[in-house]
Amino acid sequence: MTDRDALFGRLRRWPDVEDPTLQAHDASDALILDEAAKLQRELGEVVVIGDRHGALTLGALDAGATSVRVHQDLVVAERALVANAAELGLEGFAHHRLDASLVDGATLVLLQLPRSLDALDEIAELIATHADERVRVIAGGRVKHMSMSMNALLARSFKHVHASLGWRKSRVLHAEAPLRPGISWPRSRTHRFGDTSLTVVAHGAAFAGTGIDIGAQTLLQHLDAMPDASHAIDLACGTGVLGTALALARPGLRVRSTDASAAAVASTIATAATNGVADRITATQADGLEGVPDASAQLILLNPPFHVGAAVHTGIAERLIADAGRALAPGGELWCVFNSPLGYRPLLDRIGETRQVSRNAKFTVTATRR
Ligand SMILES: C[S@@+](CC[C@H](N)C(=O)[O-])C[C@H]1O[C@@H](n2cnc3c(N)ncnc32)[C@H](O)[C@@H]1O
Repeated sequence: MTDRDALFGRLRRWPDVEDPTLQAHDASDALILDEAAKLQRELGEVVVIGDRHGALTLGALDAGATSVRVHQDLVVAERALVANAAELGLEGFAHHRLDASLVDGATLVLLQLPRSLDALDEIAELIATHADERVRVIAGGRVKHMSMSMNALLARSFKHVHASLGWRKSRVLHAEAPLRPGISWPRSRTHRFGDTSLTVVAHGAAFAGTGIDIGAQTLLQHLDAMPDASHAIDLACGTGVLGTALALARPGLRVRSTDASAAAVASTIATAATNGVADRITATQADGLEGVPDASAQLILLNPPFHVGAAVHTGIAERLIADAGRALAPGGELWCVFNSPLGYRPLLDRIGETRQVSRNAKFTVTATRR
């Protein structure tokens, strides 16, 4: 066993969802670090983007990096890195937003490839626009989650892009010679509902991009049936479509939006501003409803995720529904949409009296009263 195997073996996902089927690292982390070491013996200052639970950041520090600037989109990923660093006694990293401060003057960027091409595009533009002209990007992932579109997309921001040989079902893409493309994110698109229109503003990593998810559209058909409330919560808000649509439909109503993703929160703030309701919507990065007092919420809207990273998994939805149950005031309601085949109904029944508002082969909408 190498020192790195021993280090990786001690990483935990906590406070992210833990389960014997989910890992805190995979072979792509090791491959990215190996390719970096081949490139330059002394790692020096490194930028890490998309680290899941700290494998890249802590692996780089352990291999001699002098400092690491790191961006992780999910707040639970940031906390996992901090917890793993404390456990391993490693320091020397600082968290940054996905902005120029992260990559300014950088010469080596280690990247866990995001699942979304838009997220990769925003990252590639940022690096190519602000990093040193000698920057080398080592972007890795599991082969099953990679596509030739990723090479093509990187080639829009870098003159030279080439792939490594595969290793343990992983591969890296090397990119160099930035083309200084400038920043084209966030992007926006306007959608019409009857006589109202809603403009969705999205950063690359935000769920559904500038579109409106079909599940969200299904829930939005029931806005009029939702109970009166002076305050509502848009839980796991994504680009903020649900909360913004509710605020537009109900002048005077205030919305508290939360999401674990930094890209989602930034998108929600921008969506609220573009639609003229920024004064009635707040958005904060949070794991579930942390910070929301028990038994305080009148109305919660939720379109829960059914993925943990790349894996289909109900762990996060279970956690969000339970947290909604904790936060609902007596008589308050949780309005939820989910894929009909998913077995969320027992989870909802556990937190209150649940009625089915609509159901088709694809989506079920429920209202749960505490
Ligand atoms: C299916 S999307 C729904 C987004 C938006 N509400 C919509 O309907 O388009 C689920 C959202 O859950 C967020 N999420 C995942 N884990 C979370 C957690 N632990 N706490 C809060 N939000 C989380 C994701 O970042 C994603 O934006």
